[in-house]
Amino acid sequence: MEKKTVIRPMKAADIDTVVSIEQAAYRAPWSEILIRDCVTVGLQCWVLEIEQQIMAYGIMAFHQGECHLLNLCVDPKQRRQHYASHLLDFLLHLTCKSEIPSMFLEVRPSNTAAMNLYKKKGFIETGIVEDYYREGVEPEDALVLRVTL
Ligand SMILES: CC(C)(COP(=O)(O)OP(=O)(O)OC[C@H]1O[C@@H](n2cnc3c(N)ncnc32)[C@H](O)[C@@H]1OP(=O)(O)O)[C@@H](O)C(=O)NCCC(=O)NCCS
Repeated sequence: MEKKTVIRPMKAADIDTVVSIEQAAYRAPWSEILIRDCVTVGLQCWVLEIEQQIMAYGIMAFHQGECHLLNLCVDPKQRRQHYASHLLDFLLHLTCKSEIPSMFLEVRPSNTAAMNLYKKKGFIETGIVEDYYREGVEPEDALVLRVTL
């Protein structure tokens, strides 16, 4: 029998799991406080779970008629199973339903997995933010990608 995928709002009780995925996934992970704040202030924070296990999460902000995808992350042990693709489809649909005409995000050009994913979903490059990522030895630019809904 196929396992049931559920996408639901992130709750305070999910934060420990989300933080551990975040720490496993990123060189410069968001802090627990930052993730908790995202939930508390009412950003769009969603988790994708299978049999009550969180596989992926996404955080976006709706602000002044714009949608900014701030984080999209899949548990490193659970990649290449289209969880990001599924969650991103959901977030795009939610944005569209909220009558927001586009979504934008920043991404490292060297992040091949994310670049391929976003390009598949129709995102196109609309700008560069110089030295956006500063945690490494050398700062790295971010590409700004946008999709029209
Ligand atoms: C980017 C990320 C979210 C993709 O998650 P995922 O669930 O493994 O991706 P999916 O299985 O949904 O893949 C969808 C498409 O993305 C592309 N893709 C995903 N992982 C890839 C990889 N390692 N190499 C190349 N392309 C990849 C492929 O085009 C894939 O489609 P396909 O499987 O039909 O070929 C995941 O690698 C991740 O969490 N990375 C760390 C956090 C991060 O960098 N987030 C993005 C910040 S902007």
